[in-house]
Amino acid sequence: MSESTLLISDQAKELRRIVERHKRENRAPGSLRTVTIISGKGGVGKSNLSLNLACALAEGGKKAVLLDADLGLANLDMLCGITAKYNLTHLIDGSRTLDDILIELKRDVWILPGGSGLKELADLDQTRLMELIDTLGFLEDRADILLVDTGAGIHKGVLTFAEAADTALLVTTPEPTAIRDAYGVLKALKAPEEGDTAKKSIYFVVNMAGSEGEGLEVANRLRMAASQFLGLSIEYAGCVLKDHSVEQAVRFRKPFYQLYPDSPAAAGVRRLVEILFGTSARKHTDVNPPRGLKAFFSRLTRGYFLER
Ligand SMILES: Nc1ncnc2c1ncn2[C@@H]1O[C@H](COP(=O)(O)OP(=O)(O)O)[C@@H](O)[C@H]1O
Ligand SMILES: [Mg+2]
Repeated sequence: MSESTLLISDQAKELRRIVERHKRENRAPGSLRTVTIISGKGGVGKSNLSLNLACALAEGGKKAVLLDADLGLANLDMLCGITAKYNLTHLIDGSRTLDDILIELKRDVWILPGGSGLKELADLDQTRLMELIDTLGFLEDRADILLVDTGAGIHKGVLTFAEAADTALLVTTPEPTAIRDAYGVLKALKAPEEGDTAKKSIYFVVNMAGSEGEGLEVANRLRMAASQFLGLSIEYAGCVLKDHSVEQAVRFRKPFYQLYPDSPAAAGVRRLVEILFGTSARKHTDVNPPRGLKAFFSRLTRGYFLER
């Protein structure tokens, strides 16, 4: 290779590097949106919906990181056939880097296993905590959306995750006990703290609905109760029908969105993405722009320290 070809190739490389850096820097800090998926009752489909939402987002050109924040039975890895070797604990104790613990499930979908590391956040001193939040801030370069899959129940961990996120997505099924517990979650979600003017958007989805009509019926009941008794305005993000493809995909340990893209459940997830992230008319109810990852983790850890 001649000297001049070498020079041109070097220049091209340098140019690419500058463009890449420029692209990174042009992403406004805080442009990542955080969504926490919650429910009152377990087994309503949170993990399935989170995972498949991530796949649908990736299909639409968005990069998604899925934080498995189920403090009890972490199950995302079971749903997609991967076993997490490391989790946030290893990032906290400094034995692993963020790249070591992130699992690339497919193009533009990563899983961040929380494990017991999430509990340890509460015991970190302020300096270490800030360092960790800084490290996690690198996710911002990598992803557009952080989805947080939580465990069931109205306990501090779950509520803190919901409160820290830009958006909470509440999952219920048409079962009376699931609706009752979903209402319980809404009741427990405390009002934004003083000085915090950010108004959270709360969406809900009716999973395993027998029909669109049934979904709407449940939605109306829940929406009315939230508005009448709690003064909360919540947005219906549609339903996902009860669909055999979901169970089938679980058996194969693959996202149903990937395995059965034409299934009714996949169509429900596609609509969910449209309502939550798309250009749908309802989108204007998002009062605030995304606040980013650092804000999410700062709020999260602040929530952990606060007595409820
Ligand atoms: N839309 C659906 N149609 C049929 N079965 C579903 C649907 N959503 C979830 N399921 C079933 O419910 C089970 C529990 O779902 P999962 O996502 O693990 O719930 P959670 O995370 O809320 O505990 C799944 O294994 C799946 O078989
Ligand atoms: Mg789950």
